[in-house]
Amino acid sequence: MLLEKMMSVIALSAVLLDGSMDAAMPDKNIDGKVYLVNRQHALHQRYVPHDLQNVLVQGISQDMRQEAATALESLFAEAKEAGVPLASVSGYRSYSKQSTIYQRKVDSIGRKEADRISARPGTSEHQLGLAMDVSKKGSSQLNKAFGDTEHGKWVKENAHRFGFIVRYLEGYEEITGYDYEPWHIRYVGVEYATAIYHSGVPMETYLSGHRLEVYDYLIHQVTNEVLP
Ligand code: DAL
Ligand code: ZN
Repeated sequence: MLLEKMMSVIALSAVLLDGSMDAAMPDKNIDGKVYLVNRQHALHQRYVPHDLQNVLVQGISQDMRQEAATALESLFAEAKEAGVPLASVSGYRSYSKQSTIYQRKVDSIGRKEADRISARPGTSEHQLGLAMDVSKKGSSQLNKAFGDTEHGKWVKENAHRFGFIVRYLEGYEEITGYDYEPWHIRYVGVEYATAIYHSGVPMETYLSGHRLEVYDYLIHQVTNEVLP
């Protein structure tokens, strides 16, 4: 695992030194940005994506932003054809829903452990409407064992072709802030997803070498306007 990590960092450094990756990155993704949301980059309490829509896939009815919803439908259709049908478990979550989920975790396992698996309100990608938790069709279980199933392996190896990345990789908790979550996929668009997937490093590490304006963003604290 350590060797794998070192190799991926070396490979990434080579790409960044070369500078070719920046040139290859399109300036168009949702709103022309790749939103980074984590403990350090939080969303305003009132931020609600403007184009949420229901995702037409097997599982619990969920919303995502339009572009991500369409991409997820394609991903699910191909997974089904490949013999690994999936189910949606959790997509868009409002700030207040995330507060409830986080608080429930704190109450059951304490704040320290809760912080490893559940985002504090305002810091969840689910509030972006660009994340979906997935499971095998017929199940709503979210656990690490999913990563070792044929379904989980298919997701890991194919999600990027539809613009998604497995966001919380195994062994990178210090960087992402969260324990391994093979079920949580995040829409970043095909170009970024493919590049991040091949880099083998988390989104934070990958984006740290890119020009700030390509990926970073602010949500205006009062108007919710997305600032350049
Ligand atoms: N489980 C992920 C980190 C979330 O709560 O958004
Ligand atoms: Zn999730």
